Amino acid sequence: MPAAATATATAVPAAAAEPSVPTPLPVLGRDVAVPLVTGGEVTYAALDYAASAPALQRVWDDVAAYAPYYGSVHRGAGYLSQLSTDLFENARRTVAGFLDCRADDQLVFTRSTTDSLNLLAAVLPDGCEVFVFETEHHAALLPWQRAGRVTVLDAPDSPARAVASLERALADRDPHGPALVCVTGASNVTGELWPVRELAAAAHAHGARIVLDAAQLAPHRAVSVRELDVDWVAFSGHKLYAPFGSGVLAGRADWLREAGPYLAGGGASRAVTRRADGGVDVEWHETAARHEAGSPNVIGAYAIASACKALTEAGFEALAAREDALVRAVREGLADVPEVRFLSLFGDDAPRVGVLSFVVDGWNSSHFAAALSAEYGIGVRDGLFCAHPLVRRLLGGDTGGAGECGAPEAGALNAIRVSFGAGTPEEHVARFVRAVRELVRDGARWTYRTVEGRCVPDPSATDGPSGA
Ligand SMILES: Cc1ncc(COP(=O)(O)O)c(C=O)c1O
Repeated sequence: MPAAATATATAVPAAAAEPSVPTPLPVLGRDVAVPLVTGGEVTYAALDYAASAPALQRVWDDVAAYAPYYGSVHRGAGYLSQLSTDLFENARRTVAGFLDCRADDQLVFTRSTTDSLNLLAAVLPDGCEVFVFETEHHAALLPWQRAGRVTVLDAPDSPARAVASLERALADRDPHGPALVCVTGASNVTGELWPVRELAAAAHAHGARIVLDAAQLAPHRAVSVRELDVDWVAFSGHKLYAPFGSGVLAGRADWLREAGPYLAGGGASRAVTRRADGGVDVEWHETAARHEAGSPNVIGAYAIASACKALTEAGFEALAAREDALVRAVREGLADVPEVRFLSLFGDDAPRVGVLSFVVDGWNSSHFAAALSAEYGIGVRDGLFCAHPLVRRLLGGDTGGAGECGAPEAGALNAIRVSFGAGTPEEHVARFVRAVRELVRDGARWTYRTVEGRCVPDPSATDGPSGA
């Protein structure tokens, strides 16, 4: 394979001499300037990593180095096609290594976590019971509703209660039938870490299997399928600094092999023959290809593998330590602002990744998020974060305050989420803390209006004094 195609372009920078927070990994967009409604420009502070993280520079460089060699996978006889096929299969091995999969696990490239969990839902054995907490992202809560008998467990208020609740639910089931537990590794709302190993032990003790939704965990912590003893794991490339439309489902091969293909089509089929009665007989692959019908997204898979290598080289211990420091900077920086209330299931001090949701008394969340963007160049998210039952429970019917941005119902029952990761500079978090303090103390400096239920600056930066 040409060196250019395999080059791992940018080395991860060595940490500077004992900074308070080690150097962030280089990401695309780190120098993008955005206009402020109040005039001038500021470097954009991307603090919505939990939705989509910026691409690692290293991932972008690797993809750019490969791009001239791009070819069809599993199809062509040509050199580039064979090279691309090798690259795709190597990516599969790299990601399986990143996840510390068992030797006989299968790793399927999908489009996203949502796609991965829908794939698993499509291969559940007949009569499979599914157990899931109400706290899950909709991608982990909803696919099973179509597939089997689903038990939705109430939100627990501690990791120990989560395990106890699952134990109780599983004890009541028919121990001979198939069952699946689906659980997140880290909440996309509170960032809190879930007791995955203990939940896996509980599931297995009752003859159930478990799938880990690692969409928010894999970008922040090492995930070992073996150590956690989970049966499957799912995650998305775009949250792992590899935004090229790929995701992963990895784990036990049997249910994947025993079910029909997720999508019927080329690539999934080994042989197709016409029957005498006019119909068609199909022999499906028994490998991951069974569920990868159609032309695979080789760039997406390669980008995920590149991100896996970059994060492994940076070291999850170091990444987690700097993220902990950033979480502390947010918590401590806002500790004396009583109007700011963080959302939490397991308590304020529970271990978490760099994801924090909060409401601000007296503010409509949409208004607050709009002001962070328009007046400070900070991108956060407001809403229910595709985890409606959890956010509603955490808000407890609290509207988060009715702000002055148009109708009071706009943004009601919403929260604000700030999230960050390996590419976040300290300055972004410091700016966020300063902005929240100023907005709470002084109010917005701009006017906003409600458009389709969301607050927007009026006028906006594009026609405001910055003239941008
Ligand atoms: C915990 C969790 N699971 C699943 C998903 C779905 O991921 P995707 O939209 O990439 O399919 C998300 C996305 O935010 C998430 O946070």
